[in-house]
Amino acid sequence: MTAFGSVFMPEMALTEFDGEQWGAHKLVPSDSLSLHPGAHVLHYASTCFEGLKAFRHPDGSVKIFRMDCNIARFAQSAELLALPAIDPQQTRDMIVDVVARFADQAPEAPGSLYIRPTHIGTEPAIGKAAGPSLTSMQYVLVSPVGDYFAGGSDTTLRLLLEEDGMRCAPHMGRIKSGGNYASALLPTMNAKRDLNVDQILFCPNGDVQETGAANFLLIDGDTLITKALDSSFLHGITRDSLLTIARDLGMTVEERDLSVEELLERSRKPGCEAALSGTAAVLTPVGTLLHKGEEYQVGNGKAGATTAKLRQTLNSIQWGQAEDTHGWLTSI
Ligand SMILES: Cc1ncc(COP(=O)(O)O)c(C=O)c1O
Repeated sequence: MTAFGSVFMPEMALTEFDGEQWGAHKLVPSDSLSLHPGAHVLHYASTCFEGLKAFRHPDGSVKIFRMDCNIARFAQSAELLALPAIDPQQTRDMIVDVVARFADQAPEAPGSLYIRPTHIGTEPAIGKAAGPSLTSMQYVLVSPVGDYFAGGSDTTLRLLLEEDGMRCAPHMGRIKSGGNYASALLPTMNAKRDLNVDQILFCPNGDVQETGAANFLLIDGDTLITKALDSSFLHGITRDSLLTIARDLGMTVEERDLSVEELLERSRKPGCEAALSGTAAVLTPVGTLLHKGEEYQVGNGKAGATTAKLRQTLNSIQWGQAEDTHGWLTSI
C-alpha cells in the first residue's frame, strides 16, 4: 500500500496573483510548478494550505465534504499570514474543476479523493523578512487515499502528553501553515523513537490542546469534552462535524479547557474513551496515554463503542449512506 498522500493526479488547478489581481485559473500538469529560488515562501514560510475530501457515493456521484468551511479557514490563514487575499469563489471553482477532472479516479469508500489547496508567496525578495510577498500562487492538488493511521479504526493510538513544549507559537495555532508542522516535527520524531508513541498530545502548562495533525476529544459516558476554540490550535472541521453529530445523538458537548489532571482522572473510568479527529484521521481511538514516565490506559484501552458510533455516523453522511441533514456535501 502506498503512503497516504504520496500519489497525485497528473493535473492540478492553478492561479497566480500578480500584485493586483488573480489570473484565470487553469488545469496544468502537477509537476509544472516554476518558482524563483528567492521566492518569499522558500525563505520566510509565507504559505498556508487546506485538506478536505471528496467521496464516491453508491450511485457513482462524487461529493465534496464541507468545502466552504475549508475555504473560510484558508481565507483566514492567508489573512493572518499577510498573503494576498484569496477569492473564495475562485478557490471553490478550482476545487470543483480539479475534482470533476479526476472524479473517475475517486476511490470507493472507505477511500476518498484528498484535496490539497495551497497558497504560497512567490515574490523573489529575500530582503523581505519583515515584509509581505506581493505576488502569490494558489494551486489545488488531488490525491486518492485510504486510511491515514495504519491499522484503520480497530487499533488504538499511544499518545505522549507533553506539558513543557508546545506545537507552535500560540498565536499561530489556528493557521494551517507549514511552519507549524515543522515546529512539531522533531519533538514528535523523538517521542516516536524514544517512547514508541504514535503522536504527541501537546498540553502546554497542563492545557490539553491537540496533536501534530488532529484534534483531541474525550468521551466520558454521554459527555464529549474538547478544548473551546481559541487562537492556539487548529479549528478542525471534523471536530465541528463530530460535535454536531454528538449533539444530534443527544450527547452533552462541553467545549472548555481540559487539564492533564482531569484527563488522567477521567481516563481511569472503565467506560471512558478518547480519540483524535481530523480529515485524515477521521476519528481514531486513543488507548494509552504516557505522562511523566507513567502509562495510563484510557478506559479499557480498546476502541470504544461511542467513538465507533460517531465515526460511523460521520462516514455514513460522507459516503452517501445517510441523509445529509446539515447540507455538508457539495455535488460537482
Ligand atoms: C494540527 C491539526 N489539528 C487539527 C486538524 C484537524 O482539522 P480538520 O478536521 O479540519 O482536518 C488538522 C488537520 O487535519 C491539523 O493539522
